[in-house]
Amino acid sequence: MAAIVSEHLLDWYDAHARDLPWRARPGEPLPDPYRVWLSEVMLQQTTVAAVKPYFEAFTTRWPTVEALAAAPEEDVMAAWAGLGYYSRARNLVKAARAVADLGSFPDTEEDLRELPGLGAYTAAAVAAIAFGQRAVVVDANVERVVARLFALKEPLPGVRKAIRAATDAIAPDSRAGDFAQAMMDLGSSICTARDPKCLLCPLERDCRGRAEGDPALLPVKAPK
Ligand code: ADE
Repeated sequence: MAAIVSEHLLDWYDAHARDLPWRARPGEPLPDPYRVWLSEVMLQQTTVAAVKPYFEAFTTRWPTVEALAAAPEEDVMAAWAGLGYYSRARNLVKAARAVADLGSFPDTEEDLRELPGLGAYTAAAVAAIAFGQRAVVVDANVERVVARLFALKEPLPGVRKAIRAATDAIAPDSRAGDFAQAMMDLGSSICTARDPKCLLCPLERDCRGRAEGDPALLPVKAPK
């Protein structure tokens, strides 16, 4: 099942991936780690639509991590205004300076975790997307897709352990970043929280939640 699922998902991604400014262009091997990291930090509590103009403004003004590292913190804070959660911007400057001191972007999940503001999700996302490493990248969208795909019925948050294990089991050995972003895109466009569009889903025939009834009931919310 594992190889079939990732094959169905990657075929769908090849045809339907969103064209987002931090993604590699067709034919490009891997996207720039600085742009991937910046986008993931911006996307932590903010929607793709809201992030796009900020991402363009930041990368125009500070095209490299070295440029951002050299910027006065108050300039970065001012450019961040409107995105909210300002600790992200302060950590952004700290992390940029740490990377500039190191001389290059750390390229493993473990080393990325050492940077200010890089939690488990962001470190895994950058390792997979920018460096092609087989990291387990699970955000809220991926959580929903995987809970449904495997009909995992334990409530949140306990189910997260099984979700991570199942995500790891279906992750392909190559195209780690595409796989992670395909799961995110599927969760945000098709496997949505309410009213999932199963008839358009590339995993419809692989989905245990669909076979068993109503995938929209998964994942089960935490008891109050
Ligand atoms: N949400 C967070 N990171 C994302 C990415 N790389 N692509 C799409 N949605 C995302």
